[in-house]
Parts: sequence; C-alpha cells; structure tokens
Amino acid sequence: MVPRIRPIHGPALPPVAGLALVTGASSGIGAATAAALAGAGFEVLGTSRRGAAAPAPRGVRMIELDLADPGSIAAAAETVRERARGRGERGAAVLVANAGESQSGPLEELPRAAWERLLQVNVVGQLDLVARLLPGMRAAGRGRVVLVGSMLGSLPLAFRSSYVASKAALRGAGLALRGEVAPFGIGVSVVEPGSVATGIAARRTRYGGAWDSPYRGRLAAMLDRLDANEAAGVAPEAVAEAILAEIRARRPAAYRARGSRAALAIPLTRLGGTQFTLDLMDRVHGLR
Ligand SMILES: NC(=O)c1ccc[n+]([C@@H]2O[C@H](COP(=O)([O-])OP(=O)(O)OC[C@H]3O[C@@H](n4cnc5c(N)ncnc54)[C@H](OP(=O)(O)O)[C@@H]3O)[C@@H](O)[C@H]2O)c1
Repeated sequence: MVPRIRPIHGPALPPVAGLALVTGASSGIGAATAAALAGAGFEVLGTSRRGAAAPAPRGVRMIELDLADPGSIAAAAETVRERARGRGERGAAVLVANAGESQSGPLEELPRAAWERLLQVNVVGQLDLVARLLPGMRAAGRGRVVLVGSMLGSLPLAFRSSYVASKAALRGAGLALRGEVAPFGIGVSVVEPGSVATGIAARRTRYGGAWDSPYRGRLAAMLDRLDANEAAGVAPEAVAEAILAEIRARRPAAYRARGSRAALAIPLTRLGGTQFTLDLMDRVHGLR
C-alpha cells in the first residue's frame, strides 16, 4: 500500500521558553541570534572557544566550547544540564547549532587534516552536542533545534568541496532527525544562510592556489567574488530573525534559506536541476 503523505508544515509542537544554547555566539549570526533570543525572554548561554573571555552579546552568558574537542563538547553539555537543573527544568529548551568553520581550496590541494577538522567542527561536533541535549528536551516534552547550514550545502560551488560537504551533511542529518524527535515535541529546522556580512571571509581557512597550482587563476577569481558577495550580504540580524521565527513557530519549517535572494534561488535551482544549478553557481562566482 502506498502511504498517504499529508503534512506540508509538519506537526504542531508545544511552544518553548526557558534556557537556550547558541553555539558560536561570539560574532556574526550566532551573536545576533543569541541577542535576539535574550531579547525574546530566553535565558541564553552562548559559546566560544574563548569561553567567558569572548565578547558577550547583550544579556548572554558565554561558556567555553571547542567543537574540535569531544571533551569540550561533553563539558559544555554538562554546563547546560546544570543550569537547567538550577532553573528547575529538565534541559535546554532551544539549541541553535551555529558555530562553524568556513574553508576553501581545490579538492586536490586540501590536506586530509583540513577535511577532518572541518567535518569534526561543522558536522560531528555539532551533532554530538545535539545528541547530548536531546534527552533533556525529550524529558521535558518540548524543544527546538536549529541547525545553521549554508546555501552552499544546497547549491554546491567549486573550490568549496569540504565546506559544501559539511553543510550538506548537516542538512541531511537534521532533516532525518526531524522525524525521530517530533513525537517528543521537539522541532528540528535547518536554516541555510546565503551571503551574510559577518566578516567570516577573513576567518575562512584557505588552502591551495600556490604559484604553481593549476587551479590558481580560477580559485583566485572565485575567492574575490565570494569575498565581495559576503561583504555585500544581508545583516546577521536578518538570519537571526528567521531563526527566531522558527523557534517561536508552532509548526517550525523543516528548511529555510535566508540571504542571496534565497526566495528566488532555491525554487529556481530546484526547478532547473543539478547541472543548471552548478552552471548558475559558476556564473555568479566568476568561473564562466
Ligand atoms: N557569513 C556567511 O556568509 C555565512 C553564509 C552561510 C553560512 N554561514 C554559516 O553560519 C554560521 C555562522 O557564521 P558567521 O558568518 O556568523 O561566522 P563567524 O562570525 O566567523 O562566527 C563563527 C562562530 O563559530 C565559532 N567557532 C569557530 N570555530 C569553532 C570551533 N572549532 N569550535 C567552536 N566554535 C567555533 C566562533 O567562535 P570563537 O572563534 O569565538 O570560538 C564564532 O562564534 C557558520 O556555521 C557558517 O558556516 C555563514
């Protein structure tokens, strides 16, 4: 028998209030999201590798988290559990898994260690933290998890293979998780930002393209365009607003993209198919 597939919006879930954790809250999208959640009445813990020494958004307490280090992930989850207990609650109500490393380079010239670190930080580490906070959300019968991917996870771009792979993996895992935890009142949304003016370009780890690299010219052209797009991107507050809207929604969306004309780009590329999407990304990034 063919199952009937009905819901467009997903199940209605209990609303959330209380304790929120935002990873990577020391700058950019995470800082804006943490501030927005604090403004909306949540008690917000933000994370940084620098812990309490990092700049804290208004109303946010910073704790230490290095997603490259499994011990640090376990310790951060324990800090969250302790704080929830202090509030007389079962666990955090909200997790915004936002921290991430941006990386570029021709696949041929990406060191294995760069791949391993990126997948640990952007995928394995984030999902480890999600798994550690889910029991508290289940026990409370409510929760919201927002995974911050990238539109590049849906629209792949040359010379970003490791980053594209990490964000596509995060989206896939998040969407698979959604059905696992919905019966416990927990909503999972994947939010993919387009270009956002956060200064992330300056922090991107860059590999390859040495003077003798066969990729040098095209890699440099793509990076110039990418950096210019980021500088002209939407404000991080615009992405924070989209994230907050899903946290507040009774039926949070499975997927949402914001920035880089997402409302046009996502449907257009879905309609156009894979090669159309790749050609479009090449053109937009100076590769054709
Ligand atoms: N900006 C864009 O155009 C754009 C576009 C698409 C997707 N995104 C995604 O959106 C998210 C936020 O980006 P953003 O532009 O706001 O970046 P950002 O300003 O560079 O902030 C990144 C945050 O991640 C934290 N972080 C980096 N490496 C970490 C690690 N190993 N362990 C724990 N935390 C780490 C940083 O904290 P500390 O350095 O203080 O530890 C910082 O708070 C990222 O996942 C990024 O991939 C951004």
